[in-house]
Amino acid sequence: MEKNRETFGSRFAVIMAMAGSAIGLGNIWRFPYMAGEYGGAAFIIVYIVASLVLAMPIFFAESVIGRRSGSGTFGAMEKLAPGTRWKWLGFLTVLSPIIILSYYSVVGGWSVEYLFKSFDFAGMTEGDVTGFFGKFISSVQMPILAHTAFLLLVAGVVLGGVRKGIEQFTKITMPILFVLIVIIAVYGLSLPGSGKGVEYLVRPDFSKLTPSTVTAAMGQAFFSLSLGVGTILTYASYMKKDENILASGLGTAFFDLFFAILAGFAVMPAVFAAGIAPGAGPGIVFETLPFIFNKMGTASPLLSTGISFLFFFTILAAALTSAISMMEVGVAYLTEEKGMRRRTAVLLITLFAWVVGILCSLSFGPLSGVRILGNGIFDFLDKLCSNWLLPLGGLLFTIFVGWKMKPSDVYDEFTNGGTLKANRAVFKTVLLLIRFVAPAGIIAVFVSLLV
Ligand code: PHE
Repeated sequence: MEKNRETFGSRFAVIMAMAGSAIGLGNIWRFPYMAGEYGGAAFIIVYIVASLVLAMPIFFAESVIGRRSGSGTFGAMEKLAPGTRWKWLGFLTVLSPIIILSYYSVVGGWSVEYLFKSFDFAGMTEGDVTGFFGKFISSVQMPILAHTAFLLLVAGVVLGGVRKGIEQFTKITMPILFVLIVIIAVYGLSLPGSGKGVEYLVRPDFSKLTPSTVTAAMGQAFFSLSLGVGTILTYASYMKKDENILASGLGTAFFDLFFAILAGFAVMPAVFAAGIAPGAGPGIVFETLPFIFNKMGTASPLLSTGISFLFFFTILAAALTSAISMMEVGVAYLTEEKGMRRRTAVLLITLFAWVVGILCSLSFGPLSGVRILGNGIFDFLDKLCSNWLLPLGGLLFTIFVGWKMKPSDVYDEFTNGGTLKANRAVFKTVLLLIRFVAPAGIIAVFVSLLV
């Protein structure tokens, strides 16, 4: 398994692959509705702070572990701490991305459906456009079919070998995605009534700040940067030895944050212009953007259809690169540690995610009565992962690097043997964040959740 371990070709490739994993539905679908649900600007500020103080240290911790060990998340624990209980961290971080993949691909399926629906938006009535989403997700067959299609696409790419696929795929789709989101944002801002949305995004109301806002913002920061589930660790294990962990981490985080904010500006003004409540929940992007495309349609049906199609295509592409990284963590484990063939590993994970995903999909319809701790199946799994499993994984990664690994090894990995000046300069601060600030912050949030 060790012999021809691939590496990414360049720093650009590393950042694009990591950004491909990071930028996804978390930015376009989850961020705007979380911001809407938890009070707009106040949430965003906490989210940015959490990204810098809690998420970045985890990012560096995972990068150090991944590149040091040159293994997937389970193998890394076996290599750096053989025969210890740290292997359970390896297990946790193999399992959680597969759970995420299950419900993530349901939303991925929604974007598949909307891709085709793009041809209809221009001609629909306003009421039909905004009402479509609710009808669609509560139905049985179509969302499941779309979920299946999405998962098959993911499986297809992972089957064929991901790295080259991802590298090429993200290099092309990411820039397109940026251009499109800017176009949508500009259009959304030009709609009458959009000013309220901008206000919502930039004027914080700190009275809305509660422990659950902080938890949600932290969870969003981790989710958006793909942290605590071994994805960044696995990708870092494909980094060359002379690659710069600090630079690629900051680059990835910058793109991810920038993209989330752009998506907020693309969606929130439109939400207000469309008269939809900002706290409307997971469907907000799927209800709002078609509204915009419908409006565009009165001016030019062709333009509306074209932009809608491109937009949902790029959402789909962004979702795919993220989903691929989730599946790859499990596939790396099954092939490297269990000696399975890639094909078998992909099949097993796909089957698991398919079945769990179907339950998630049905939880918007026939299974909506099934509640776990007060949540539907979909929401339960999302909250379980984002608010608990990701932070837990992240916490343990920081403890591992901060307290289990030798500081000289961490220094060596972070500064490439002391050769990188800027990395040397910030190392003490980073180690402080990894050792104390991030763990304390995460534990504080856990405690506040429990009391
Ligand atoms: N970061 C991805 C997104 O924002 C989701 C993700 C989470 C990917 C965990 C991999 C691991 O959509």
